[in-house]
Amino acid sequence: MKLHDFHRRKVAAEKISMVTCYDYWSAQLLNESDMDTLLVGDSLAMVMHGFNSTVHATVPMMAMHIAAVRRGAPDKFIVGDMPFLAARRERGEVLDAVCELMQAGSNAIKIEGAAGQLDTIAHVVESGVPVMGHLGLTPQSVEGLGGHKVQGRTESDAEKIYRDAMSLQEAGCFAMVLECVPQHLGRQITQSLDIPTIGIGAGSYTDGQVLVLQDMLGMQPSFKPKFLRHYLDGHRQLSDAVNAFHHDVGKGAFPNCEEVYR
Ligand code: KIV
Repeated sequence: MKLHDFHRRKVAAEKISMVTCYDYWSAQLLNESDMDTLLVGDSLAMVMHGFNSTVHATVPMMAMHIAAVRRGAPDKFIVGDMPFLAARRERGEVLDAVCELMQAGSNAIKIEGAAGQLDTIAHVVESGVPVMGHLGLTPQSVEGLGGHKVQGRTESDAEKIYRDAMSLQEAGCFAMVLECVPQHLGRQITQSLDIPTIGIGAGSYTDGQVLVLQDMLGMQPSFKPKFLRHYLDGHRQLSDAVNAFHHDVGKGAFPNCEEVYR
């Protein structure tokens, strides 16, 4: 998948698959998969570092994970998240942050929100860096939004998200994530835009879908928002595997005679 394929896929009505990826190990696995594109999301602050929100992600943290993913997935289109407030700084600082993420191995960056940063987004695009937008539930604004809630439920909120989507396209974004919005809004925005939408909790009409890898693999069984599908009972299967190793060691059943050097 290359940059121009995003638009081509929308025109051809071929859905785009995207999944988060934060490390070399899973990047290698995903590089061999059919997955279209990888997102080094700032959700890594929560999933990989145990913070309670994405505001703890920093530019060096993002760059380190992007570089690891690029080493594991040399063939994939990688989108790297601009972390909390990084796109809100002075223009020179914004470009330094963008530069760090691109030099780490991103093909594009993702910026949450629209209001107050459309000029910045246009400038980054004019500078030759593809930008993916992100509207609806924007987790970096979780405090301002009052929690992880579905957005655009009222007419005025929905209108604002719709207008923001048009503005992001105008600013030059090549695609946009729509997170946790009602399906009818996801559909309306998707039908109005020339650029593809990639939904997470935004219904089935978006041009693509994205999930957090660990969520879709069922690594945290109690985390099951309505939009999430577990494609694996990963928590149980991995726990069973490590416990089996533990018990084999305890019984002296590991290693066996074929697993020793003679
Ligand atoms: O950081 C992230 O994982 C994201 C996805 C939820 C779209 O932005």
